Amino acid sequence: LVAGVDSSTQSTKVVVCDAETGEVLRLAKAPHPDTTEVHPDRWWEAYLSASGDGILDGVSAIAVGGQQHGMVTLSEQDSVVRDALLWNDVRSAGAAADLTAELGGPAAWVDAVGSVLVGSFTVTKLRWLAQHEPEHAARVARVVLPHDWMTGRILQHGGGFERWTTDRGDASGTGYWSAATGDYRPDLLELAFGRVLDVPEVLAPAAPAGRTSDGMLVAAGTGDNMGAALGLALSPGDVVVSLGTSGTVFTPHDHAIRDESGAIAGFADATGRHLPLMCTLNAARVMTAAAAMLGVDLAALERLALSAESGAGGLSLLPYLDGERTPDLPGATGTLSGLTRTNATPANLARAAVEGMLCNVVAGVDALRDKGVRVDRILLIGGAAASQAVRQIAPGLFRAPVVVPRPAEYVGVGAARQAAWALSGAAEPPVWDLGIDSVFDVPARDASDVLDRYTALLAQVHGR
Ligand code: XUL
Repeated sequence: LVAGVDSSTQSTKVVVCDAETGEVLRLAKAPHPDTTEVHPDRWWEAYLSASGDGILDGVSAIAVGGQQHGMVTLSEQDSVVRDALLWNDVRSAGAAADLTAELGGPAAWVDAVGSVLVGSFTVTKLRWLAQHEPEHAARVARVVLPHDWMTGRILQHGGGFERWTTDRGDASGTGYWSAATGDYRPDLLELAFGRVLDVPEVLAPAAPAGRTSDGMLVAAGTGDNMGAALGLALSPGDVVVSLGTSGTVFTPHDHAIRDESGAIAGFADATGRHLPLMCTLNAARVMTAAAAMLGVDLAALERLALSAESGAGGLSLLPYLDGERTPDLPGATGTLSGLTRTNATPANLARAAVEGMLCNVVAGVDALRDKGVRVDRILLIGGAAASQAVRQIAPGLFRAPVVVPRPAEYVGVGAARQAAWALSGAAEPPVWDLGIDSVFDVPARDASDVLDRYTALLAQVHGR
């Protein structure tokens, strides 16, 4: 048996899989505060609660997939200096703009670390800390990511901790490690923080981080999106769209994709390849917010959205409820446009919310298409992938068939697959084909008109 941990923004999930087939045999989950700033101990408590009741009995190897980018600051004695600032915390947007200018513009960051900086990247959070909390900054000896900290904590707890480690995938979201060279950039840490910090060792994809004293192998772990990519048996032409707390669009690729516009980040994946990725801050929550606005529950929101015509009678929603990261508009708010006396119905509002949330990620799929990436089908995952309204409305907007893979716990499954890989010592990860739940085809008339209206509104309101 192997286990995978999904340490996400909202909760910690533990899945236990058959190491040969990947079949999910046990699953447990515990919530932790859903916020933008949190003490890492909350993740650990959630892990302990989810992994109680003997769920890890008989498990030979484990790995953690964690929310990317979060800044976990540690003192010389490895105690946490301050609450971790997470990927969705936009306070370092100004620091991102400053650092971009200081290095010579967006292209200079793409040259250095593969991506244009936004306030999600760890390096921008370090600059913010140095500027705004010098007394905390002075105590920081090293910086690790959420999955690195959880991996280390599992090893500390199990009596096998030797050193802090990370992997290529998560390291590629820091802004101070280059997937092109496989090296850290201490000069960029110094630029951001004023001095160089200790950073975790970047392990090869199937290398173990250590073993607990009772012999359980702890694999390198990775970022959650890289974990999801590993958990889904992807073929060329498969593009993943995840609608969770964040909206992400990504696909494994043999080489890094260079995008100076910043829409696509040039991340590494968890297998030694690359994972070009687009990330938005407003996904599943847009639906929750729309349901609250209409005073209905999510099931009713879905029924309403499906009862309206494509195009919501002319309503468009720019869903930037939490500011936005792609496009880079950290201070943006949402815009509902096109209201008239006749179209202002609950059904059209519900439809506009689902269409607006989807248009935001369709832009990512189209940015990949523009870079020559093949888009044969969309694998829809994340909390909002369970929605019938999303499943049915999505293919027309993506202009590609939409597939809902099975099982739902792809990040945990991906982490478990990495654990099985590290355990096997093989050159490639084990073949786990977990299958497909449902397929939704592109309707005869696609929804390009909806997309065009959304794009025009974005240009009108935000000049993008
Ligand atoms: C990706 C990103 C988010 C987090 C949260 O760059 O910031 O998807 O990994 O899950």
